[in-house]
Amino acid sequence: MTRNKFSLFGIVYRSPIIYNLLTFLKKGPAHRKRFRIIRDYIDQGGSILDVCAGDGTMRRYLMENCKYLAVDASRGFIQALRKKGLDCFYADLHQGLPLAENSYDNVIMLISLYEFRDSSLNSLLDDCKRIAAKKVIILEEVLSGDTRYESLFARRVRKYLCATEYQVTSRLFTFEEFKECLKSHGFEIIRWENPYAVGIYKKV
Ligand SMILES: C[S@@+](CC[C@H](N)C(=O)[O-])C[C@H]1O[C@@H](n2cnc3c(N)ncnc32)[C@H](O)[C@@H]1O
Repeated sequence: MTRNKFSLFGIVYRSPIIYNLLTFLKKGPAHRKRFRIIRDYIDQGGSILDVCAGDGTMRRYLMENCKYLAVDASRGFIQALRKKGLDCFYADLHQGLPLAENSYDNVIMLISLYEFRDSSLNSLLDDCKRIAAKKVIILEEVLSGDTRYESLFARRVRKYLCATEYQVTSRLFTFEEFKECLKSHGFEIIRWENPYAVGIYKKV
């Protein structure tokens, strides 16, 4: 399928305006809730690496003088991050996270782990754990008991709208699947506030 400027194909990660508008339409007044939830667990005095950072909205929820670095594979988001004056770099994380060991106190990732669940999830989590000096915090949107399965139609629509050269089609986790997956990587689940669950890996 080819993409042109006016096509809806892959529109979600093309520009922050479209991404934020769609998130607002989907979540309404709760569209920023995830940033407030994860903020409770971040050591704000330390350095923060935001993995799959999108347009870096998370930065607004952190202390002004903290060291913040964003990584993403959307050229549109990287451009927006640079315009905001935020430190960032482009990387397709299926190819690994090219940073030195223990470089950031807090490594965080919001609503993005599912994108890797059928591909490079294990190596991505290993990379995050290697780079974190103190902890890795993962917040994910999960399906609960009553919305256990995302319909095939919803999944197809999402696949069409989110298509990119780096994205691998995937499914959202159920809460149980997320818990199992993170536990097998040494994380502890510390919060579940529908539809978000948070897991933490603490470095000893
Ligand atoms: C659902 S958005 C979440 C963005 C942001 N964390 C937030 O909460 O708004 C998923 C993000 O993952 C990024 N992403 C998906 N696959 C990626 C990959 N292979 N490498 C790097 N970033 C990727 C997308 O570009 C997008 O910014």
